[in-house]
Amino acid sequence: MAHTKKKIGLIGGGQIGGNLALLAVQKQLGDVVLYDIPAAEGLVKGKALDINQLSAVDGYDCRVTGSTDWKDVAGSDVVIITAGVPRKPGMSREDLLEVNLKIMKDVAGNIKQHCPNAFVINVANPLDAMVFALHKIAGLPKNMVVGMAGVLDTSRFKCFVAEALGCSIRDVEALVLGGHGDDMVPLVRHSTVGGVPLTQLIPADKLNAIIDRTRKGGAELVNLYKTGSAYFAPASSSIAMAESYLLDRKRVLPAAALLEGQYGISGYFFGVPTQIGAGGVEKIIDVQLNDAEKAELNKSFESVKKTVGEVKL
Ligand code: APR
Repeated sequence: MAHTKKKIGLIGGGQIGGNLALLAVQKQLGDVVLYDIPAAEGLVKGKALDINQLSAVDGYDCRVTGSTDWKDVAGSDVVIITAGVPRKPGMSREDLLEVNLKIMKDVAGNIKQHCPNAFVINVANPLDAMVFALHKIAGLPKNMVVGMAGVLDTSRFKCFVAEALGCSIRDVEALVLGGHGDDMVPLVRHSTVGGVPLTQLIPADKLNAIIDRTRKGGAELVNLYKTGSAYFAPASSSIAMAESYLLDRKRVLPAAALLEGQYGISGYFFGVPTQIGAGGVEKIIDVQLNDAEKAELNKSFESVKKTVGEVKL
């Protein structure tokens, strides 16, 4: 029988991978293949079985298969990459470059071979450099490769704003641009709560503290968990992007996309507002920035450029 359900390939069955599988099934996005290296076969087969048993409780018809064979991932509509080592306390995302680049070379080569038509979302860090390497190695069209960072960074910002105001998080609209590092750029001027500019609602010193906490949001979790990094919010953020592609929702979501002149940048993946639909990255929105915002974005870009410069393919 023809496979009519969508197929979602999850590369890496660790903390984020397992949560991605669960969310994909709960949102009934499609059947899931949870792939990992042979050493983690029990882990992915166990998570698949466990989630399939939860499906019986809740009545979901999507299935998860745990696999260590790329042939099972072949033909996926969406691939989400979380293969890689997470940070430990005291590490920056850039410290992961060498070890995770090795893993990305393996993963991207397999994507080229087995999933040339997939919409591929990278989550592995250092985010902007990893998605750059992925695109180069896998040779996928530019609209079909993105990095997930902006949705997560924006969610963190919104979460802290809602907490500070004691208001519903649904009414907080915000945008965080730039690289997925400590100099990411929360655009306060473009953030609102129920349409009211954020700057009218929160005094500058409090807002600066929120910006600082957002920038270091990943490290805050690494310091709490001690053995790894955040996984619930990164999984949800990636699923929002996958869902927008699979359901052609055309949501405007910040993502690390290949820039070709926007923001004065060319040839790099960098966090900007995108529109994601059935065509993958269908649009990149070039937000008009003032001089101070431009300077902050350039600083963030210089960091990304430096890390990408260390990517040897
Ligand atoms: N192919 C597939 N999977 C791999 C490979 C590979 N070549 N190498 C390692 N993995 C798997 C590991 O076996 C592990 O199960 O990737 C998984 C990573 O899971 P965790 O260690 O739990 O890490 P996680 O918290 O999910 O984060 C993964 O995302 O946010 C980033 O910085 C984070 O780079 C890290 C990645």
